[in-house]
Amino acid sequence: MKQSLTLAIETSCDETSAAVVANGRTILANIISSQVPTHQKFGGVVPEIASRKHIEHVIPVIDQALVEAGITLGAVDAIGVTYGPGLVGALLVGVATAKALAFALDKPLIGVNHLEGHIFANFLAHNELKPPFVALVVSGGHTSLIHIKDYNELELLGQTRDDAAGEAFDKIARVMNFPYPGGPHIDNAAKEGKPTAIAFPRAFSDLTGENKFAFSFSGLKSAVLNYLHTAAQRGEAVSIPDVAASFQAAVVDVLVMKAIAAAQHVGAKQLVLAGGVAANSYLKAELAAATTQQGIAFFYPPPVLCTDNAAMIACRAYYQYLVEDFADLNLNAVPTLTL
Ligand code: KG4
Ligand code: ZN
Repeated sequence: MKQSLTLAIETSCDETSAAVVANGRTILANIISSQVPTHQKFGGVVPEIASRKHIEHVIPVIDQALVEAGITLGAVDAIGVTYGPGLVGALLVGVATAKALAFALDKPLIGVNHLEGHIFANFLAHNELKPPFVALVVSGGHTSLIHIKDYNELELLGQTRDDAAGEAFDKIARVMNFPYPGGPHIDNAAKEGKPTAIAFPRAFSDLTGENKFAFSFSGLKSAVLNYLHTAAQRGEAVSIPDVAASFQAAVVDVLVMKAIAAAQHVGAKQLVLAGGVAANSYLKAELAAATTQQGIAFFYPPPVLCTDNAAMIACRAYYQYLVEDFADLNLNAVPTLTL
């Protein structure tokens, strides 16, 4: 049987990426042009600069993906693109490019939800993985528990009421003078610290009521800031590794507890971790231990597929392609897109 080739574009935040994936599961190319160094001096992503950088990079990144995959544009069967959630100007660059390609090549255009892309990254890393399962998506913009009943049947179980887990990592890292994005720096610093050194709060840690599968991290962020300010005012020295490890443990404890509870609630025997924060070593270790204890199989992607990339978008697009979930040329960027 002829293989199906999906070309996908991802420009929702600060990575310009294009990928070619065969039959939804095999990566032929996954080119990622990161703008992190550009935004680092501002301590976060500057939306206007991100859009301009995407315009500069999107065509060269697509060209490079085609060369690396060893194909021409004519061989592509479908064009997938992230149309939300994300920064509107950044998303529009990818959406406009994908629409132009789909129109010129007369191939199906597929609009992909970025969050769903993060989950589907796991299909690229684990050939044996199939629905049903529960996914914990933890990124700079999202913290969500999702029941993946089938490839095209996804149900949101709960999400953060305020800050995303990655956002909390980045904000805490910033006050501790780590460069943007701070998540990986906290992860590293925490390896030298004690997770039980400081008792930071675990919000929404009860498993009853309407917040059963919801998260809240803004109180934890304030608690860490208060701890650091109080110590500075009193002229007391703080152990950065202990603060990092204790903060990280407060985030991870709640994530692990709720992920396991969600899997048990829907009777899932598989748990999947996704999103940029899935690269966190403590989160992976704690989830591995908890799932083993509960007899649940645990999957997570390699670091390059945890953070934003177009291969995961191509994978998601392929399963939409199979059920002809196509967009037309009116496809628009939807910054606040939900599941
Ligand atoms: O998924 P992603 O690339 O972008 C969004 O869609 O938001 O996630 C980026 C987030 C950032 O907040 C970054 O600090 C966090 O993922 N991150 C980590 C680690 N690596 C990346 N957070 C904690 N530990 C890590 N090792
Ligand atoms: Zn993302």
